[in-house]
Amino acid sequence: MNERLYTLIRTLAEKHSISIDDYRYILDNYCIEAADLLRELAVKARKKIYDNSVFVRGLIEISNFCKNDCFYCGIRRSNKNCSRYRLSSDQIIECAEDGYKLGFRTFVLQGGEDAYFTDEILCDLITKLKEKYSDCAVTLSLGERGRESYLRLYNAGADRYLLRHETAMKNHYEKLHPSEMSFQNRMNCLYTLRDIGYQTGCGFMVGSPFQTNEALAQDLKFIETFKPDMCGIGPFIPHNSTPFAAEKVGSLETTCYLLSIIRLIYPSVLLPSTTALGTIHQRGREEGILAGANVVMPNLSPFSVRGKYELYDNKLCTGEESAQCLNELCDRMRAIGYKVVIDRGDIKKSEGKRNLLQRKEK
Ligand code: 5AD
Repeated sequence: MNERLYTLIRTLAEKHSISIDDYRYILDNYCIEAADLLRELAVKARKKIYDNSVFVRGLIEISNFCKNDCFYCGIRRSNKNCSRYRLSSDQIIECAEDGYKLGFRTFVLQGGEDAYFTDEILCDLITKLKEKYSDCAVTLSLGERGRESYLRLYNAGADRYLLRHETAMKNHYEKLHPSEMSFQNRMNCLYTLRDIGYQTGCGFMVGSPFQTNEALAQDLKFIETFKPDMCGIGPFIPHNSTPFAAEKVGSLETTCYLLSIIRLIYPSVLLPSTTALGTIHQRGREEGILAGANVVMPNLSPFSVRGKYELYDNKLCTGEESAQCLNELCDRMRAIGYKVVIDRGDIKKSEGKRNLLQRKEK
């Protein structure tokens, strides 16, 4: 590793900020030694804040109807091969019941942009979940909605919102999405969510078509300035019934490299080792944790629909991916020196910023 690369990595670990050009330099000069150093520093930074705890989230995929037509996504509206489903509120509550018994203290309601899930239906559902499980966090991942809607869901009790920005480079965004979708609106949604008081998560795919290191450097700068509470990154994986069916899979190495970098940019961030990472490699999940991730999100959807939330080919939904197999996941984490904890798993901000987590009344 050359001296500039070494110095940049040390600076990142100490100052949590470098220039876009410097991010670009770290990406352009990927090598095993740099990956090892980043990993070592990332693990140290995470250990200081979270020790060896891994947080788990029960992921409930509430609907695969989607009004959007993102070129990469298997549940895009034009995919006629997708067998559509949506869960009823009762089914969702049953999933949470199962999850609670298994030890989950965060429920993530994730779905395509499905007009069926109006504010009324969602507020009622969130209220019920929070009444029943006041010790749990409810995370929403339901795409772009208006400020009013986000506010109503927040006031009903939702704690967190995940909305991947997908890419921080406008012209790259436009190559991944049809023209009716807007980069600016997506970014605005993230700032609105943050402003309302949600713990907010952004994220992107690694190795998506047309992605360059320049685009990734911009993603990293965006993360540095936005400081998301959560950040979901995983490799792009082609789906057979999308325009990107013949594109290349993103790499495990680059994803892990980026996980380490993101941990150093913002040591407190909640960083999942994603299903996509587990899908491209047998030990993907473990490698993600060992690179600096501290969250795993097993699938808690009803078995009858599990195969249908197919964002990409061969998406895992069994084994360690399954909430019901939490024991297996615990064993796998233990084997690499980590422990799965029964906890809401909120972000631990540094001294002085603690009360940022108190819910704002709106
Ligand atoms: N490969 C990997 N990730 C994907 N997503 C959607 N399609 C794919 C794919 N083909 C991710 C997007 C989206 C999240 C729900 O899943 O980043 O925000």
